[in-house]
Amino acid sequence: MSKKYKIGVMPGDGVGPEIIREGLKVLEVACKKTGVKYELVHYDFGGERYLKTGEILPDSALAEFRKLDAIYLGAVGHPDVQAGILEKGLLLRTRFELDQYINLRPVILYPGVYTPLKNKEPKDINFVVVRENTEGAYCGIGGVFKKDTKDEVATQLDVNTYKGVERCIRYAFELTKKRNVKKKLMLVDKANVLTYSGDLWQRVFYKMGEQYPDIKKEHAFVDATCMWFVKNPDWFDVVVTNNIFGDIITDLAAVIQGGLGVAAGGNINPEGVSMFEPIHGSAPKYAGKNVINPIATIAAAAMMMDVLGETKTAQVIENSIKNILSSNKIKSMDAGKMGFSTSEVGDLITEAVVSG
Ligand code: IPM
Ligand code: MN
Repeated sequence: MSKKYKIGVMPGDGVGPEIIREGLKVLEVACKKTGVKYELVHYDFGGERYLKTGEILPDSALAEFRKLDAIYLGAVGHPDVQAGILEKGLLLRTRFELDQYINLRPVILYPGVYTPLKNKEPKDINFVVVRENTEGAYCGIGGVFKKDTKDEVATQLDVNTYKGVERCIRYAFELTKKRNVKKKLMLVDKANVLTYSGDLWQRVFYKMGEQYPDIKKEHAFVDATCMWFVKNPDWFDVVVTNNIFGDIITDLAAVIQGGLGVAAGGNINPEGVSMFEPIHGSAPKYAGKNVINPIATIAAAAMMMDVLGETKTAQVIENSIKNILSSNKIKSMDAGKMGFSTSEVGDLITEAVVSG
């Protein structure tokens, strides 16, 4: 008997429910086509539930998450909830507790998608950012002293452990090898100023690099990387970096691939339960309007299938996205400007899966 996956679905806040609905629609037909079986377990965590019950993510839910095969997440963030509460209590807590130590963010310019970079084509923009996802500046260590006075002191620690750095860099080397494209791995840091953490990352990177003689080891500072992403995106194959730099550079990277409407990401624990999401937020101003672009979320479903080892299903979804985009039907990747509603874009891709 073939495996039946148990997938947790957490639409979350804002536009989350609309985009997850489209993602599930595409997932259903793709899995039917390839014979992949799954059941869904629905979770209504997010701003609404928090405002009603005060509950963000109970331990019992986390215990259930650990028994799932994957989690499919919409978006987190609610205008009536103070920034940080849901982000930390729901999103970061899941990433940390499930030890999803990699945040994998492919940067692919699909054919037919507008990039603001002049003279750049799909062949020029095809790389992956491997972002450390469980420590660094996100660890939540720090504090405040003499708050609300002129003597106030606030600290926020950037924690880099040997284990955390090593497993992240290992993953990046292995991915570069598996991709087998340019065979280039670039370490991105700010080691000219952040010398202690920079030194740890660089030592691990070059030492481990000896085990990968066929892979070119490159290094760039994070500020320069922002410039190169815009000037020469074609240089990149795989980029590895810490949590906060990875967060920042992937918003920039998303724009060169056509915007947050198409950028998907995976929070990956290679030995455990991973979680897949569009990298955009909950976009409250578009919530309930059926105008947001669901493609990032649909691409996240493809990534989920790929990480589960269902590569054929992943390809079916990916190809359908590509077919629809290259047909130039969708006018823009931006919310409200697509020329179609959220559900119509979902329908187009669903039909492409069925007829593809
Ligand atoms: C992302 C988001 C999150 C992050 C926020 C919502 C905590 O910006 O997934 O990139 O910073 O990781
Ligand atoms: Mn971000």
